[in-house]
Amino acid sequence: MAFTVAIDGPAAAGKGTVARQVAAHFGFGHLDTGLLYRATGRRTLDGLTPIEAARALRADDLDAQDLRSPEVAQAASRVAAIPEVRAALVDFQRAFARRDGGAVLDGRDIGTVICPEAEVKLYVTASDDIRAARRHIELTGKGHDITYGAVLEDLRQRDARDSARATAPLKPAEDAVHLDTSQLTIEEAVAAAITEVNAARKT
Ligand code: DC
Repeated sequence: MAFTVAIDGPAAAGKGTVARQVAAHFGFGHLDTGLLYRATGRRTLDGLTPIEAARALRADDLDAQDLRSPEVAQAASRVAAIPEVRAALVDFQRAFARRDGGAVLDGRDIGTVICPEAEVKLYVTASDDIRAARRHIELTGKGHDITYGAVLEDLRQRDARDSARATAPLKPAEDAVHLDTSQLTIEEAVAAAITEVNAARKT
């Protein structure tokens, strides 16, 4: 049976961690939809046009090594503003969302556009400072040479672009449950999300 958990929010708010752990807890599939835009943006850095890149995307492109860099993140946010790029990626996401056995998708427009009928919708946020600090630790831990200030600037630029675009902008679904992870440990944030899923499974 299909059961969809939609998790949206700004960059580095903790969506990915919550999504992965909720999926593992319930045995659901997990799709990090940011990877679709990152892989598309990555291909544009090699010279493909954004629409060509989105249409040519294949599942193994999502395993590429260098998708986490801030350069690729910026390219992802730029291609994500193009309606034809988003349109090329819709079917794959919807099919994943309705797969048998449950699915967790995290992104920017999952609860609003991709799966407005999702059984659970979460909107995960955290303060700018905390998001930048967490992402800075993650990136430097992976060997990226980047300052805290540059990470903060990347997040702010992307959030501004992702929120201002005309097609599928970053915003909470009207019926999303808001989860501010600023003062929460990972365990607390995951536990809060699991509580929401359990509540929806009982209804
Ligand atoms: O979640 P992320 O930081 O990996 O996403 C990278 C960029 O992709 C983000 O700045 C905006 C875009 N994106 C989007 O527009 N819609 C999604 N569902 C997921 C990501």
